[in-house]
Amino acid sequence: MSTTNESLFERAQRVIPGGVNSPVRAFRAVGGTPRFIARAEGAYMWDAEGKRYIDYIGSWGPMILGHGHPAVLEAVQRAATLGLSFGAPTEAEIELAEAIIALVPSVEQVRLVSSGTEAAMSAIRLARGATKRSKLIKFEGCYHGHADALLVKAGSGLATFGHPTSAGVPPEVVQHTLVLEYNHLEQLEAAFAEHGHDLACVMIEPIAGNMNFVRAQVPFMKRLRELCTQHRVLLVFDEVMTGFRVALGGAQSVYARSIPGFKPDISVFGKVIGGGMPLAAFGTTREIMKQLAPLGPVYQAGTLSGNPVATACGLATLREVARPGFFEALSRKTRSLVDALAAAARDADVPFSADNEGGMFGFFFNGALPQHYGAVMATDKERFNRYFHGMLSRGVYLAPALYEAGFVSAAHSDADIAATAAAARESFALG
Ligand SMILES: Cc1ncc(COP(=O)(O)O)c(C=O)c1O
Repeated sequence: MSTTNESLFERAQRVIPGGVNSPVRAFRAVGGTPRFIARAEGAYMWDAEGKRYIDYIGSWGPMILGHGHPAVLEAVQRAATLGLSFGAPTEAEIELAEAIIALVPSVEQVRLVSSGTEAAMSAIRLARGATKRSKLIKFEGCYHGHADALLVKAGSGLATFGHPTSAGVPPEVVQHTLVLEYNHLEQLEAAFAEHGHDLACVMIEPIAGNMNFVRAQVPFMKRLRELCTQHRVLLVFDEVMTGFRVALGGAQSVYARSIPGFKPDISVFGKVIGGGMPLAAFGTTREIMKQLAPLGPVYQAGTLSGNPVATACGLATLREVARPGFFEALSRKTRSLVDALAAAARDADVPFSADNEGGMFGFFFNGALPQHYGAVMATDKERFNRYFHGMLSRGVYLAPALYEAGFVSAAHSDADIAATAAAARESFALG
């Protein structure tokens, strides 16, 4: 019997919980069988049955150059030959740190780690250590990895402390985490008025990619920055998804276009800076970073941190995205995709809205762009699921849940975008 996605899924479920190593891969939100990927090249992935897909997930963000970019492959192969891991510093780590700092002016020093979860968790520990305060604000619908203190949903009522969203997280562990509605200015003001003096940090996805694609509005971000400065609270930008993805300088550079001098205090990176290998980072000023071990009392460490192969992969990726014109071309391409989808929806009389920044995009079966998590989750889920399967069967691989963003890579061609638009026309017609 030949290998099928179905047979692999059955086999996987015997030895891996739910058959997957990260929950959203299981297709639970949309139903059906996950595709088991055999290989990928450029803008395409092939599943175990040999079917080709135009890939708009890109490993959930990292594959901004497409799969198997020659410069990246060569850097990885060269690094692997020299040694897989040393547990000692290397020159390449300095180069990657220098590259990040050169592109992100708010960052003077970085620490490399292995996942976005680790980077976000460490950034919070650093913020708490540096401010000697415990409380933090996060926003509903923003995901910052699965550290205990961040698996929280809003409590009942305005500006109350949250409840764990996962079993295994004791309520005491999240008692310092305040969960607010994204883009809700009055709630933000109230939370600062009550807790400002106790807050270590506010962590935010500036353009949220874990509730599809929702931008923090400029007045909201401006006021958030003012309140943080006024109360000496550290503003932590989780740019795991947006960093080197929405613009070369990340989402912070996008906000700095509208808010002169805008900077977060701490930045968290992942995904693109690893180019598809396990690598993430957090960074801030030298002054704050000196709180971190071995210089200061905030402990943080990792056996594989700054791994030479992952570092080589990330560095090669950053060098490509930093080439003149890279982001202009990627943005143009992503915009053309979003425009083509919107035109197809309009012709089919389907309520639809979409947005993009750089190589990241989102779309909703809703006439207007939602501004917060509740509004995203109120969009038409049944229609999304039908559309998702319509696209998948036509060889277009979108994120399998309506609350996830999409990603375009430099490898996507105009022909890929035209083929996606044609598939969308047929899929919208399904109703
Ligand atoms: C904004 C954001 N922060 C943090 C994380 C966690 O990163 P990782 O999955 O590498 O632990 C993610 C993952 O999707 C993310 O999108």
